[in-house]
Amino acid sequence: MAGSDALQSIVYARASLRLLDQRKLPLEVDYINVKDSSDGWNAIRDMVVRGAPAIALAAALALAVEVSDLDFTGTPAEAAAFISKKLEYLVSSRPTAVNLSDAATKLQTLVSKTAETAKDAKAIFQVYIEAAETMLVDDVADNKAIGSHGAKFIQRQLGNSKNISVLTHCNTGSLATAGYGTALGVIRALHSGGVLDKAFCTETRPFNQGSRLTAFELVHEKIPATLIADSAAAALMKQGRVQAVIVGADRIAANGDTANKIGTYNLAVSAKYHGVQFYVAAPVTSIDLALPSGEEIVIEERSPKELLNSEGGLGKQVAASGISVWNPAFDVTPANLITAIITEKACFSPFLRCFFEAINFVSNMLQRTLVDNALG
Ligand code: MRU
Repeated sequence: MAGSDALQSIVYARASLRLLDQRKLPLEVDYINVKDSSDGWNAIRDMVVRGAPAIALAAALALAVEVSDLDFTGTPAEAAAFISKKLEYLVSSRPTAVNLSDAATKLQTLVSKTAETAKDAKAIFQVYIEAAETMLVDDVADNKAIGSHGAKFIQRQLGNSKNISVLTHCNTGSLATAGYGTALGVIRALHSGGVLDKAFCTETRPFNQGSRLTAFELVHEKIPATLIADSAAAALMKQGRVQAVIVGADRIAANGDTANKIGTYNLAVSAKYHGVQFYVAAPVTSIDLALPSGEEIVIEERSPKELLNSEGGLGKQVAASGISVWNPAFDVTPANLITAIITEKACFSPFLRCFFEAINFVSNMLQRTLVDNALG
């Protein structure tokens, strides 16, 4: 079993990036060297690194390493265009998590603005590297804020209970982020606040992020925890053994609909039926205001091998030869099944948000009609 250093998925220093090969956890600790955006793209696509915030950081830093000692003879505008193209390529590695495209857009905007005044290409690369490094530092601080807001909010919502048991899905911890985690960060904060009775984690088939990664993190943190099969979740809720489900997010649409690891929707439906609170914990960078609803979220489909073979596709064949496979990596939970969304800035009910947005919309329409009328 891997040791404590195995909880750091991204090991970065200027001009050097190593990614923990999460496919081998928890039995083996192996880091791969990432020299450029092509190595970064492959590491993301092949699940060496996974989890919405971690893939965004891995992509940004892979390119930072590539440009750190690049022999580039072009103008500042050409350097900005070079970065922009590489970022577009990195975004194509996995489509569902918005954090990757959000980071790319911010970095593209920054370099193209800098190119307007920079005196050489080197200055563009320097600004890019520093911005990517800042993203790595900010992610941990944001996660800690999500953890402390979320723990206080959930405790209040559960009548200041000091005996809270929760269920989580997939892996949203240190391994999925730069450190601390989102949904798992809230669980950490509940535990350190002395109010967590137990955390249950699902296996998260077919790639087993729950049994391999979340279970590993929970054991490492000495948080009282129990692993369940995905199919045991409804029975667990029926027995009243959890008061809340806490999951992460890959993309949250403007109306609060949330894409997360396949099986999240099942948990939300079960939670609603059993009167269990259902929380989504994510940084604000996971919110995609450009998408009106979850209907528009592109869901990644992964290789049939993940189901046909054991170990999420890496082991022996277990399914009958010739069977066809549908393997969506994510599903969308509608906002009306979500009790609240917990971010580093605030916790809010997506339902209330819809309500406020509707009021805003109607009042804007009325105002526009009044102006139109006034202008004749
Ligand atoms: O396919 P994965 O392992 O990248 O999926 C990860 C998830 O669905 C996580 O819940 C999500 O990215 C949030 S991670 C803080």
